[in-house]
Amino acid sequence: MDKKVTVVGAGNVGASVAQRVAEKELADVVLIDIVEGLPQGKALDLQEAAPVEKHDARLVGTNTYEASEGSDIVIVTAGIPRKPGMSRADLLTTNAEIMKGIIEQVAPLSPDAILIIVTNPVDAMCHVAFETSKFPKNRVVGMSGVLDAARFRAFVAMELNVSVESTHAFVLGGHGRTMVPLPRYSTVAGIPITELLPQDRVDALVERTRYGGAEIVDLLKTGSAYYAPAAAAVEMADSILKDRKKILPCAAYLQGEYGIHDLFIGVPVTLGRDGVEQIIEVTLTEEERAALNKSADAVRSLVESLEKMGL
Ligand code: APR
Repeated sequence: MDKKVTVVGAGNVGASVAQRVAEKELADVVLIDIVEGLPQGKALDLQEAAPVEKHDARLVGTNTYEASEGSDIVIVTAGIPRKPGMSRADLLTTNAEIMKGIIEQVAPLSPDAILIIVTNPVDAMCHVAFETSKFPKNRVVGMSGVLDAARFRAFVAMELNVSVESTHAFVLGGHGRTMVPLPRYSTVAGIPITELLPQDRVDALVERTRYGGAEIVDLLKTGSAYYAPAAAAVEMADSILKDRKKILPCAAYLQGEYGIHDLFIGVPVTLGRDGVEQIIEVTLTEEERAALNKSADAVRSLVESLEKMGL
């Protein structure tokens, strides 16, 4: 392949990302983890599936960073996942230290890469990656809204018994309990779901979306979701690698957009060759704006506690 994607963290999310990138022939993959043998074993296993899956992507697993040199995209999934009863915010300190150490190693070897951050709490982790890499803001982006919107779309499609392909969903804000799904911008074949469903069902789907991650954590008990998070991260990588300019909800660095300053938070962006090429601003009702501001406050308080710890 003429593109290279490095995936840091060869756990549940990272391995699924590697598999999807390779099977879609988006790029060669370098899979990195601290656990000896884990990335090597998973990369080899995936490579051995290539003849059956009929792809020619090369996969390398390693515990060091040399092979990542010159990556087009680095997807960071390393860190601890949630257990039942934990919020994404509970992962803050541990994952911030892991993120800092990884970015310090990966950024100098791939100075032109776009960083896609998956590790939670993702909005705060984007700050750590941004500060540590010193990359321009368009080259640091967090995976959040693509997953939240996918969950919302899956629930809408199940509720109305229609194809997921006919659905669109719009989610703003931080990737957590304060996220702001916007039903009036969420549609089936262009028709807002508010016209297709009674208010109490819309509210129920919004609530299920907000707790979509926790629902999986409670079922799995030993970790958090990974198939849908990996699919979401790879959709972002696809749009960047192929310069497709898809408009996707992602954690992006805001400098005044939506009245929010110097904060990574989920907004619709255009993703292309240069990463976050544009931030799309839509008009919000007073209620929606208040919900977004509340979500921004929650993200800001995480970032401030990281700053106090010097991370
Ligand atoms: N460098 C490289 N890899 C690391 C490091 C590090 N410093 N620290 C931890 N890891 C690896 C672990 O060894 C493990 O293999 O990160 C991997 C994490 O995998 P899982 O425990 O399976 O967690 P996963 O479900 O993949 O979630 C990872 O993504 O969606 C988010 O909230 C989730 O923050 C979590 C992250």
